[in-house]
Amino acid sequence: MVKTIGILSIKGGVGKTSIAASLAADLVNHHKKKVLLIDANYSAPNLGLHMDIVEPKRTIHHVLDNRALVKTAIHSKFGVDVIPGSYSYRSRLNYLKLKDRIKSIKDNYDFVIIDSSPSMNEEILSTMLASDNLFVVTTPDYPTLSCSLQAAKLARQRGRPINGIIINKIRDPFYELSLKEIEDSTGIPVIARIHDDKIHSRSLFTRIPASIYNRRSRFGKEINRLGAAIVGEKEKRSLFGKLFGSGFKKEEVNRQVLREDFYKSMFKE
Ligand SMILES: Nc1ncnc2c1ncn2[C@@H]1O[C@H](COP(=O)(O)OP(=O)(O)OP(=O)(O)O)[C@@H](O)[C@H]1O
Ligand SMILES: [Mg+2]
Repeated sequence: MVKTIGILSIKGGVGKTSIAASLAADLVNHHKKKVLLIDANYSAPNLGLHMDIVEPKRTIHHVLDNRALVKTAIHSKFGVDVIPGSYSYRSRLNYLKLKDRIKSIKDNYDFVIIDSSPSMNEEILSTMLASDNLFVVTTPDYPTLSCSLQAAKLARQRGRPINGIIINKIRDPFYELSLKEIEDSTGIPVIARIHDDKIHSRSLFTRIPASIYNRRSRFGKEINRLGAAIVGEKEKRSLFGKLFGSGFKKEEVNRQVLREDFYKSMFKE
């Protein structure tokens, strides 16, 4: 049964698109899954540039405007089926139709990943309503955390509780919010911790998702662990963990719970 995952945040530039593109590419190339990746950041749609799709002729904007069939807006890149957005589309669109527009094709996939807009309006609601599962991306600082709290509140109001938080761009942990502080204030489990990494400049420059550009990078490995959790595979432990039998990190335990939740929900539907 297909799983639809929305990747969101109310703050711009925290890494939603980088993570959505890399998670999709990881699920296809390292976990052998079929994935549809959709750009739902309608006002600033740059998923295409992360996935090496430049100036697409048919986009999610055309689909929402009834000017293209959804199938014809799919571009295959790195094994992922991608529906990019259009920078130049000017007509007023009903973004809340996204769920309905992908209904006819979503069962062809194991996962549908939706890259959200950070705008607290119909754009973010479009992702919330079209997704069965939501991951919030945050950076470990107070301004972004307060936005993540708002996202969590909005999702709860819409009956779409958030499944997990991804902490991105960890730079200087001593001066940043810890996993515990983020979990205590949001009440949501942290399912991945990602450090600031120069691989992203290289990935953007070459237009290759970072998880493919270098799957052995710190970023590539953490995305792979998250991918393993949602496909129901056992997580590979780090060499340090294996050699010294160190305890599990909190995010590893949370991924174990996520794995079980995803597994159970397959039988509910
Ligand atoms: N872990 C990271 N380390 C370093 N740079 C990163 C990391 N994650 C993302 N970036 C960089 O941060 C910038 C913003 O990333 P991205 O476009 O994915 O954010 P976004 O949340 O989708 O932004 P928007 O809200 O504008 O859509 C990009 O230049 C990207 O390469
Ligand atoms: Mg983005």
